[in-house]
Amino acid sequence: MLNEELQIEQKRATSVPREEIMRQWELMGQNRELLVRRMGYTPRAWVRTFGCQGNVADSEKIMGMLLDMGCVQATSEKEADIIIYNTCAIRENAEIRLLSTVGELKRLKAANPNIMIGLCGCMMQQEGIVMQIRRSYPFVELIFGTHVLHTLPKLINRLLSGERRVMDCYEGEGRENLIPEGLPIKRAQGNQASLQIMNGCDNFCSYCIVPYVRGREVSRKPDEIIREAKEILAMGYKEILLLGQNVNSYGKGLDEKITFAQLLERIEALKGDFRIRFMTSHPKDCTKELIDVIARSKKICHSIHLPVQSGSDRVLGQMNRHYTREHYLSLINYAREKMPDVTFTTDIIVGFPGETYKEFQQTIALCKQVRYQAMFTFIYSPRPGTRAATMPDPIDYKEKTKWLNELLAVQHQISEEDNKAAQGKLMRVLVEDKVQNKEGWMYGICENGMVVKFMAEGIQKGRFVDVKITKGMRSEYEGVLL
Ligand code: 5AD
Ligand code: SF4
Repeated sequence: MLNEELQIEQKRATSVPREEIMRQWELMGQNRELLVRRMGYTPRAWVRTFGCQGNVADSEKIMGMLLDMGCVQATSEKEADIIIYNTCAIRENAEIRLLSTVGELKRLKAANPNIMIGLCGCMMQQEGIVMQIRRSYPFVELIFGTHVLHTLPKLINRLLSGERRVMDCYEGEGRENLIPEGLPIKRAQGNQASLQIMNGCDNFCSYCIVPYVRGREVSRKPDEIIREAKEILAMGYKEILLLGQNVNSYGKGLDEKITFAQLLERIEALKGDFRIRFMTSHPKDCTKELIDVIARSKKICHSIHLPVQSGSDRVLGQMNRHYTREHYLSLINYAREKMPDVTFTTDIIVGFPGETYKEFQQTIALCKQVRYQAMFTFIYSPRPGTRAATMPDPIDYKEKTKWLNELLAVQHQISEEDNKAAQGKLMRVLVEDKVQNKEGWMYGICENGMVVKFMAEGIQKGRFVDVKITKGMRSEYEGVLL
């Protein structure tokens, strides 16, 4: 066991103290004037998000605060006065791509020295990366980690008060992972709104950097979540996406005893016609109680993202996943018994250190058995500081790419077959928008997450409609509106 794992203790979930949030509101007001003074006009803000839904939700908070500081949303990066990149550390190529993209911002800064460039997110929680940025990208004035996201008004205020460069990144175990409540959020347009229910991760899967950069798991208080869910519904959103690294362990450390299944029931009980989705579920904490709640529910989508990562028990053990293939399949079978229409999606890592081709074949066999609706596949990427990064890894990247392609071919065939088998079925669809270049056609999202296109002149976005599937292709359906 790593030290970090031994140090995990059940702690009380805590929010950022109210006074600190009030202070940020005050600074947002002050920054309004200071920003206009620096730019000479109303500043335009641009936030670019890399990585997962968690980062998307954080970016909505960043934009919310920037708008409150008097900015307007820029329509492109080139015309922006404040540019913030919210970064992802999950795989090495994401980091390499990010660094080269940041390099390109140098030109914008040279053309207009008044613009403000900032970097935040998971990459900024790694000392090595931060050092590199400080050395090689002097035009980046603002660097901050995930734990201090809510202090953006203070950080910008320091810049506006004359500091040349402001940096506040999480280092080591010294700082707590507190949840900020009551800050503005600029939500995405469309039908779906994200709602963060927890932060951090205590699982320490051996390949994963997240517990190191996002810190210990903390759950938001259920009342705060319900308050935000009501707010989202009052704004007219039709789908709530509950977010957490491991939503199934929601409630750990809270004063109020509550499980994720119970939280779902409380959200379900809110008035209105809306859908609930959630991610990510960890199979080790997925309970029958949870599956029963989903099965009984009229609002929770019968579509579950349940990352398996590997179909081999030995590899799962090395990954520190705390479940077996048999346990995983028993969850799938139980859910299918309770909900014959349930669909699953998954994440799979190909080429974990020491994985043999024979073990990889066990993953292929599991995928054939489960028949996922869709999967997110990744070639293993060593992350410095994680346990897996120290394991012997004899299979080269080229060979792993071949395995990945084999897996993708299997999944493509399954998707084609299952989507074809959906022909004739009736689906409840949430209408999203017009189909580009197809006069009179709209598209919507089925409960299983699939896109369906159908002829529907003048139908309103955000409505639930019934569509009969007439054609199932690899990644979308066509249908007729009933
Ligand atoms: N290499 C490859 N894939 C990874 N993931 C997490 N860490 C790594 C890594 N080091 C994948 C897992 C996880 C998803 C979000 O990213 O499949 O579920
Ligand atoms: Fe990473 Fe595992 Fe935590 Fe997911 S559950 S964020 S894969 S450590």
